[in-house]
Amino acid sequence: LALEVRGHLSRSKIQTNKGGQQQDWRCNAPDSTNMRDAMDVTMGSLSLAWVGDGSGVLLVLTTFQVPLFMMRFGQSNLYRSEDYGKTFQDITHLINHTFIQTDFGIAISPDHSGKVMLTGDVSEIGGFRLFRSQDFGMTFVPTDLPFEPLIQMLYNPGDCNTVLTLSTTLDLWLSEDFGATWRKIHNSVCLVIWGPKHSIYFTTHSNGSCNDRGMLGLKKTTDYGRTFKTVATRVYSFVLGGRFLFASIMTGTGTERMIHVSVDGGEVWNMAQLPTVNHEQFYSILSASQDMIFMHVDDPGDSGVGTIYVSDDRGAVFSKSLERHLYTTTGPQDTDFTTITSLRGVYMTSRVLFADGAVETVITFDQGAKWQTLRRPQNSHCDTETSTNRPKRCRLHIHASYSTTMKMNVPMLPLSQPNAVGLILAHGSVGDADSALSPDVYVSDDGGYSWLLALRGPHHYAILDSGGLLVAVEHTNAPVNQIKFSTDEGQCWHTYNFTSDPMHFSGMDSEPGSRSMNVSLWGYRNDFSKWVVVTIDFRELFTRDCTEADYVQWLAHSADPSGASDGCVLGYKETFLRLRKSSVCWNGRDYAVTKKMSPCPCTLGDYHCDFGYYRPENSSECVEQEEMKGRPLEFCLNGTTEQLQTSGYRKIPGDQCEGGFQPDRKETDVRRMCTSDALHPNSLTENTSQNTAVVVMVVMAILLLSAVTGVWLVKKYVCGGRFLVHRYSVMREHVEANKIEGVDDVDTHYMETGKAQYNEDSDQVCVKSPIRS
Ligand SMILES: *[C@@H]1O[C@H](CO)[C@@H](O)[C@H](O)[C@H]1NC(C)=O
Ligand SMILES: *[C@@H]1O[C@H](CO)[C@@H](O)[C@H](O)[C@H]1NC(C)=O
Ligand SMILES: *[C@@H]1O[C@H](CO)[C@@H](O)[C@H](O)[C@H]1NC(C)=O
Ligand SMILES: *[C@@H]1O[C@H](CO)[C@@H](O)[C@H](O)[C@H]1NC(C)=O
Ligand SMILES: *[C@@H]1O[C@H](CO)[C@@H](O)[C@H](O)[C@H]1NC(C)=O
Repeated sequence: LALEVRGHLSRSKIQTNKGGQQQDWRCNAPDSTNMRDAMDVTMGSLSLAWVGDGSGVLLVLTTFQVPLFMMRFGQSNLYRSEDYGKTFQDITHLINHTFIQTDFGIAISPDHSGKVMLTGDVSEIGGFRLFRSQDFGMTFVPTDLPFEPLIQMLYNPGDCNTVLTLSTTLDLWLSEDFGATWRKIHNSVCLVIWGPKHSIYFTTHSNGSCNDRGMLGLKKTTDYGRTFKTVATRVYSFVLGGRFLFASIMTGTGTERMIHVSVDGGEVWNMAQLPTVNHEQFYSILSASQDMIFMHVDDPGDSGVGTIYVSDDRGAVFSKSLERHLYTTTGPQDTDFTTITSLRGVYMTSRVLFADGAVETVITFDQGAKWQTLRRPQNSHCDTETSTNRPKRCRLHIHASYSTTMKMNVPMLPLSQPNAVGLILAHGSVGDADSALSPDVYVSDDGGYSWLLALRGPHHYAILDSGGLLVAVEHTNAPVNQIKFSTDEGQCWHTYNFTSDPMHFSGMDSEPGSRSMNVSLWGYRNDFSKWVVVTIDFRELFTRDCTEADYVQWLAHSADPSGASDGCVLGYKETFLRLRKSSVCWNGRDYAVTKKMSPCPCTLGDYHCDFGYYRPENSSECVEQEEMKGRPLEFCLNGTTEQLQTSGYRKIPGDQCEGGFQPDRKETDVRRMCTSDALHPNSLTENTSQNTAVVVMVVMAILLLSAVTGVWLVKKYVCGGRFLVHRYSVMREHVEANKIEGVDDVDTHYMETGKAQYNEDSDQVCVKSPIRS
C-alpha cells in the first residue's frame, strides 16, 4: 500500500552572506563568534506550490541553511509530483543543485499556464541565476541575472511573459520575454505593483531613502517603462484595490495625511471624505471589490481600535459602518476582519466593548450596513463562570488573526470557499466575549446566520469536493494517525486511521479551489530528520456521482421565511441548488454553482447611512452624527465643492433593488473651487526636516477575495531540533514569503482509502440539527 520515495541530500555549498538583507531567521541568532553553536542551529524551510489548475502538479522546494560567522552554508532540493502529491521525484539536478534562498521560494504564474521561476544564488561565481520553466516544471532553463534581486519576481497578471522585480540597489528591472533578457527601467524605487492593463505603479524617492515616507513620488508607466508619468507627490503609501487607486498624501502642514482616491488610474484624484490621521495613526483597506471598499481608520492614541468606513461607488464619500473595531498595531495583521466568500455581502470581524474592554465577534450580511453579534449555537453551552452572572450575553465568538497573535490555541483562520455555498468553518468559543479557553470548531451552513458546534478542541480543516466533503485533523502536540471527515457539512464526523505509525502533524494541503478529493498531510516522525507526506484520495468513499435528485433549492439569507422580503439582500434574492445533507455522492471537478436571482423592492436595508450619518446599534434608521449637526455637508469632488442634501441614506454600491423606499438625495455643485493636495511637484523639500523623524508603520494591506498565486503553505519552525511554532496558513496574494521551516528531506507515502474501511471502522460522532432534505 505504501510507496516510499526518499529524497537525497544534495551536495553542500559554502556561500558568503552578502550584506545580510533579506535574512529571516526565526530562531535566536547564534552568537556569531561561536562557530560550534552556530553549527547546531539548523534552519530549514519548505515551500509548496501548485502549478496550473487541475494539473495535479505540485512542486516542493526544501531549503536548509546554517548561518555561520560571515558565511552561509545552504542547500536546496526540488521535488515534483504529477499526481496530487502521491509520489514525488527529486528533480534537484534540473536546477543544477543551486541554492535557492528561502525568501524567493517558487514563483508560479497566476495564469495557470505552467510557468515557474526559481531565483538561484550562485554567489560563488558572483551573482544570481534564474531557473525558468514553461512546462509545469519538467525542464528548466538557466539565465544569469544582471543584478541582485531584492524581492520575488512579479508576473504581469495580464501577460505572464512580462515580469518585473527590484534589485538590492532599488533599481526596477523588467523582462518582456519571461526572464530571458532584462532591462533596467527606473532607479530609486521603493514599492512596485502591477496595475490593470499592463500598467506599473511605483513609488520613488528623489533624494534620500524610502524611509522618507510622505516625501515619495508615485509614478506610473503604461508602456513597460518607455515613458513615465508622475501621478502624485508627497506620497506616504499607496495601494490598488478593486478599481480604486488609493494614496495617502501629506497635507499642507506636513504632519497629517489624507487618503486620496482615483478611479482612472491616477489621472483625477479626489480627497476621500474621511478624517485626517496624524503620524501615529494609520489607514487600512480591509477589503476592496469593484463596487466599494471597507476602510479602517485608526482612532487617535494607542487604543488598538478604530472605525470602519464604507465607501460609495466612487470610493470618495465614506460613511461610518462600525465603531470600536479591533485592529492592533503590534503586528502586521492583527485584525479579525474576514470576508466570507461563500455568501455575498457577508463580513465578520471583532469589536472591543467600551464597558469592559472585552472582544466580541460581529457579522454583517449586507456589506457593512448593519452589524450584529452571532447567535449562540443550539448545541453548545456557555462557558461556566462567565454565563452565570450575565446569562443574556452568552454568544458565539469567532477566533481569527487577533487570537493567533495573542498566541491562543487557534491553528487556522475561518475558512469559506465560493463554490461551497453558505459554508463557514471557524474556531470559536461560547460565552460573554472571546474566552481564553481552548476553542472548538464551529460550522455554519447558511453563511453565518446559524452555527453548530462541530468538533471539540482545535483542529486543522479543509473543504474538499466543493463542500461535499470536509476533513479535519486534531491540533495536538502528540503524534496523530487519524483524519476526521464529514459528508453532511459538519454534522456527523467519521474517523479514519491513515497510518499505523503516528506522525507529528504540521499541516494539511489540497489543491486550491476546494474541488479536489486528494488531501496531503505533512509532518515528521520522532527523529525530525525528514518530512513525511501522506496523501489520501477520498474518491473511493463516494460510490456514485451526484445526480439532480441529490440537490435541493435553498434560499440564501433567509432569516424569516414568512416575510415577503425574506432573502432580500442588496436588492435581490438568490436561490441556490445545494447538495442534500443526506446525500453521499461526488460533486466532481466540473461542479458549478447554480443559482436563480429575483429582484426585491428597496427598503431601509438597501442603504448605507450617508456621509455625516450613522446607524445606532439595533436601529435600522440613520441619524445625523453629533459633530456634523448644523454644518453644511460639503466635500471636494473633481476640483469643485459639492454640497450634499440628504435625508441620511445612500444606496449600497452594487445594490439592485427596484421601487420601494426611495429617499431624497442631491449633490449640488456650489461652484466653489477646491484643491486636493495630490500634486505639488515643487513642494518636495519644504517640510523635509519635520518629516524625516517620523517613521511609523502604515498598514495598507488588502485582503483580497482570492488567492491568485495558488501557493499554499505549511509552516513549521525548527531550531536546533527544538520545535518552536507550527501552524498552517493559506497564503494571500500579497504575502511574499512562501515557506515552511523545517528539516530538509522529503519522504513520501501514499495511501488509498478503501471504502470497506470507512464503513466498518467509522467512529461516528454527530451533532443534532435538522437535516436538509
Ligand atoms: C552546474 O554547476 C557546475 C558547478 O557549479 C557548473 O560547472 C556547470 O556549468 C553548471 N551547469 C549548468 C547547466 O548551469
Ligand atoms: C540631496 O541630498 C544631499 C546629501 O544628502 C544634499 O547635499 C542635497 O542638498 C540634497 N538635495 C536636495 C534637493 O534635497
Ligand atoms: C485507530 O487509531 C487509534 C489511536 O489513534 C486506536 O485507538 C484505534 O484502535 C485505531 N483503529 C483501528 C481500527 O486501527
Ligand atoms: C486525485 O488524484 C488522482 C491521481 O492520483 C487523480 O487522478 C484524481 O483526479 C484526483 N482527484 C481529484 C478529485 O482531484
Ligand atoms: C439590541 O437588541 C438586543 C436584542 O433585541 C438587546 O438585547 C440589546 O440590549 C439591544 N442593544 C441596545 C444598545 O439597545
